[in-house]
Parts: sequence; C-alpha cells; structure tokens
Amino acid sequence: MEEKVKTNIQDLFSSAAERKTFLKICAPMVRYSKLEFRNLVRSYGTDIAFTSMIMADSFCRSEKARLNEFTTNKDDTPLIAQFAANNVIDFLSATEMVFPYVDGVDLNCGCPQRWAMADGYGSAMLKSPEMIADLLGTVRRNMPNTFSVSVKVRLLSSTHLKQTIDMCRQLEATGISFLTVHGRTAAEKTTVPVHRDALREIKQSLTIPMVANGDIFTLDDAQQMHQETKCDGVMAARGILSNPAMFAGDMRTPVGCVKRWLSICQQADTDITYQCMHHHFSFMSESLLPKQRRVQLNNLAKDKDKVYDFIRTHIPVDSVGNVDIDHPSKISCCYSETNFRKRLAEKGEKAETGSVGCAYDSEASDGNFFQSKKAELGREDQVPDRPNDDGADFMDGGGLLFDE
Ligand SMILES: Cc1cc2nc3c(=O)[nH]c(=O)nc-3n(C[C@H](O)[C@H](O)[C@H](O)COP(=O)(O)O)c2cc1C
Repeated sequence: MEEKVKTNIQDLFSSAAERKTFLKICAPMVRYSKLEFRNLVRSYGTDIAFTSMIMADSFCRSEKARLNEFTTNKDDTPLIAQFAANNVIDFLSATEMVFPYVDGVDLNCGCPQRWAMADGYGSAMLKSPEMIADLLGTVRRNMPNTFSVSVKVRLLSSTHLKQTIDMCRQLEATGISFLTVHGRTAAEKTTVPVHRDALREIKQSLTIPMVANGDIFTLDDAQQMHQETKCDGVMAARGILSNPAMFAGDMRTPVGCVKRWLSICQQADTDITYQCMHHHFSFMSESLLPKQRRVQLNNLAKDKDKVYDFIRTHIPVDSVGNVDIDHPSKISCCYSETNFRKRLAEKGEKAETGSVGCAYDSEASDGNFFQSKKAELGREDQVPDRPNDDGADFMDGGGLLFDE
C-alpha cells in the first residue's frame, strides 16, 4: 500500500497560535475541492485543504464511489476528508478506510439543502446534537489522538446564542480536535452578513480551536475575522473559487495562477473532469475577462483543448515566467471493507456490494453521483454545464448545490 506522510493538524493550530496568527483553510466544496484545485491553492498560502463532502454510506459500500469521490497524491497534505453521515457505522467505517490517506476527518452538519435534510444529513443533524456527539465521540475514541476529528456546523439562531454555544460545548466534550462554524443559520442566505459577534462569543466559550467561516474574499477579510473573533482559523469557499490566490494577499486572480491551473490540468489529464477544469477557469477568470469573453468561455464545446486554447488566447499566460508546477500522479488507494462488513453483520444487516444499497450512481457522467440529490436538482442542475448568461451562473450553480 502506498503510504502518505501525515501532518498533525493540532500542531498546526498550536504553532499558529504561538505565532499569534491563524490558519488559512480552503473549504469543502462539492464538485470543486478536488485534488487538482487543492494543489493550486496550496501554492498560494492555503494551510489546510478539505475534500468535497463525501457521502459516507456510498464510500463504505461502493469501490466506484471511492474512486470517483476521493483522489490524492503524496503532496496532498494537510488534508481533511469531509463526510456526510447519519449513523456511527458509516462514519467510523469511512474514516477507517480513508485514514491512510488523510490527516483528519470532518463531519458535515452545515448543509441546508433539502435533499440532505430529507435524508437526515447536514444541518438536519443540528436538531439532535446528541447524535452528532455520538458520531464524533465514537470516531474520536477509535482513531489515534494525532489524527484530527472535527465538525462543521452553523448557528442555530442568529439572535439567541445560548443554544449554539451549548451545542458547540457538547461537541467539544467529545474530544474533537477543532470545529468550524459558518456564521449564519441554515435559513439565512449568503446575502445576510455573517454574524461575527456570534462567532466571537462561541470562540470565547471553547478551549479547542475554532475556524470561522463566511464572507471571506480577501486576506484582509481573513485578518479582520481573526482580529474580531479571535478565531484560530479562517475558511473560505466562494472567495477562493474566484481567486485561488486570495490567501497569498492577491486582490484578484494573478495571471500566474491561471497558468498554474492550466499546467495542473494538463498534467492531471484524464484525472480531472472537463466540468471541474472548465468551471474553475470560469470562476477564477471573473476579474480577468470582460463579460462577453466569459460568456464565450462558458459556452465552449466540451473539449478540453478548446478551453486551453481559449485561455492561452485571451489571458496573457505566456507573459508570466515558468510556474514550475509539480503535480505528482495520484496514489492508488486501497480500501478494506472488513470492519464495515463486520459491524453490519453484528447488527444483523448485510452489506450490499457496488452501488446496490446506496444512493450512488456510478455511471453518472455529470458529476452528480448521488441519486436523491440529482432527482431534486432536476433541471436547475444543468445550469453550471451550459450557462446562458455570464459566469456568475456557474457560481449560482454551485450555490444551487450549497446555498450557504
Ligand atoms: C460550490 C460550493 C460547494 C460547497 N460544498 C460544501 C461541502 O461539500 N461541504 C460543506 O460543509 N460546505 C460546502 N459549501 C459551503 C462552504 O463550505 C461555506 O460554508 C459557505 O460557502 C460559506 O463560506 P463562503 O462565504 O466563504 O462562501 C459549499 C459552498 C459552495 C459555494
């Protein structure tokens, strides 16, 4: 089995605190926080990267789900795998399977999408903190102390903080390494400003590190968030999509960053989907291309070479020096289902193989591998593929999946 060098996430937080600074974190983003993008943002000051959210039930049951949803390489560290799970067996078994390849696991308790809520995932779990605590506590007890276990939550209310603070303290008591708080409630859209005062109070009530999330678009925003809330880390999602170099202090995507993405995608070749490569170009070029050009970019035929040619023609990538990119090949990950099957057997359940018994659609070519999500998204899900307006539609496409 190919091994990966491990990073101790708790040491990273301690060292940042000693230096009176904070960790800069690339958020989990469905479809987008893939290996290639993680490589890109690590070149620009990102200290920790999350994977996209992975459905733990599919990960445990389907080798195809594992191959499609998780890839890594030897340089892909510090790395946290984020899971959506609604029971202990799935969360613990998925954690054990991914353990050799990551530095920690995170439980998503923030997703407000209807499909997730209906199945008892994401922010639906915030209604039963004792269940979240059970999942986190079990994984914490079963994994080495040096391995990070964390959770991502939202505010329970924007006006009455006691309930959120009680929940965070209850989760802290399970022995988790840190927690991330998105400073909005599940009902609040991104048009509502993040409640920084709430984040500050939550931080004061905890002893473990807290990562603050929401509305971070520049390094300045991150520094202000740190100053105002005393948080230990700052996590960005939409900001880092539009400018992967934001944590390095760049106010807009540098041309060199586009060149890096080009080089990473070319080196990754078939490991990266057309959709992922194309969407990232669209997001990051928002500040570099006039609207009409972005419309053209978004409507290009589904051909990687056409996108690369378009970028070379309209963004002066050849005017910047060599970007010297190394994108090592992905590790071939080996997973054992033994513990998972044993646990199911103890419960008197049988583990179905392949995609049978879980919502994973391994044949999906559009990147929507989870059938319940796919059914709900319906036509809207087509928006990111062929937007008919400007690139903002792409972002809205992401927002359709996660209007956080
Ligand atoms: C395209 C997209 C995908 C997202 N996917 C996830 C996800 O997989 N897991 C998760 O916990 N949050 C997800 N989120 C929410 C973000 O991690 C973050 O909490 C939210 O966008 C607020 O941060 P921001 O203001 O920096 O965008 C996603 C957000 C976007 C825009």
